[in-house]
Parts: sequence; structure tokens; C-alpha cells
Amino acid sequence: MKRRTAIKLSLISLASSYAMAYDKSKIVNTIKMKKKDPEKPEKGELKHTPDITVGEVDAKGYISVEVNVGQEGIIHPSTEDHWIYKIELYANGEKVAQVDLEPSISRGYLATKVKKNGLNELRAISCCNLHGDWENVLKV
Ligand SMILES: [Fe+2]
Repeated sequence: MKRRTAIKLSLISLASSYAMAYDKSKIVNTIKMKKKDPEKPEKGELKHTPDITVGEVDAKGYISVEVNVGQEGIIHPSTEDHWIYKIELYANGEKVAQVDLEPSISRGYLATKVKKNGLNELRAISCCNLHGDWENVLKV
């Protein structure tokens, strides 16, 4: 094995072990969830739905994007047994960012910059270990 390949594999292994620092057996629901009535979301649905906000475009043409898990002031909890373990962000259907989160010490939040030129749609998916995967879409 070449030295460069060995270093790459070591880094991948390190990143993987970090991503799974929590007890993976606590992830008991990976079902894609939907609101029963999108016009009248329930409190539990609002708590899991990612809120996508965009900011200013910078000098290089990238727009600020923030994803907070929870809407209308209802923030999803982060405890040892119940937390958002991952958030994915897609731009025009392509994955552009992902954050892996630890229970208790961090909570459902992602921030990044996305190229504004040609951007039509942002989609975020928040993954709760107990209550499944929740999606939201923002037309830009
Ligand atoms: Fe939850």
C-alpha cells in the first residue's frame, strides 16, 4: 500500500470513528416522516422540521445558509437518549453539506455557504434518533 493511500485510509477511519462516537444502537428510527396535515402541523412535527434560512451573498457569489431543527420557536431537544444525530443539506437535489451531531453536547444546527448562481432549491433533512427523518424545502 502506498504511503498516501495509507494516510487517506487513516483519515477516513478517524472521521468515521468520530462520526460514530455515540452509541449507534440508539438510532431506532430512520423512517422518512411526513406531516399528517401540512397546513396544520402538530407540535411534534414542528419540533423535527428543519428551518432553512438564507442570508447575504458574499463577494465570491456564495449565499449563507442556516438550518435549525425546530420551527416556530420549538427547538428539538438534545439529550443522551434523544437528539438530532445528522442534518443533510441539498442544493438543486445535490448534497452540499452534512453535519453529524453528538447527543447532549451539540444540537440540530448546520451553517454553510452555497453558490448562489443557478440555485433554485434548498432541501434539508434532519434525522432524529427516535422520531425519524424530517424534510423541508426552500425555494430560492
Ligand atoms: Fe425527536
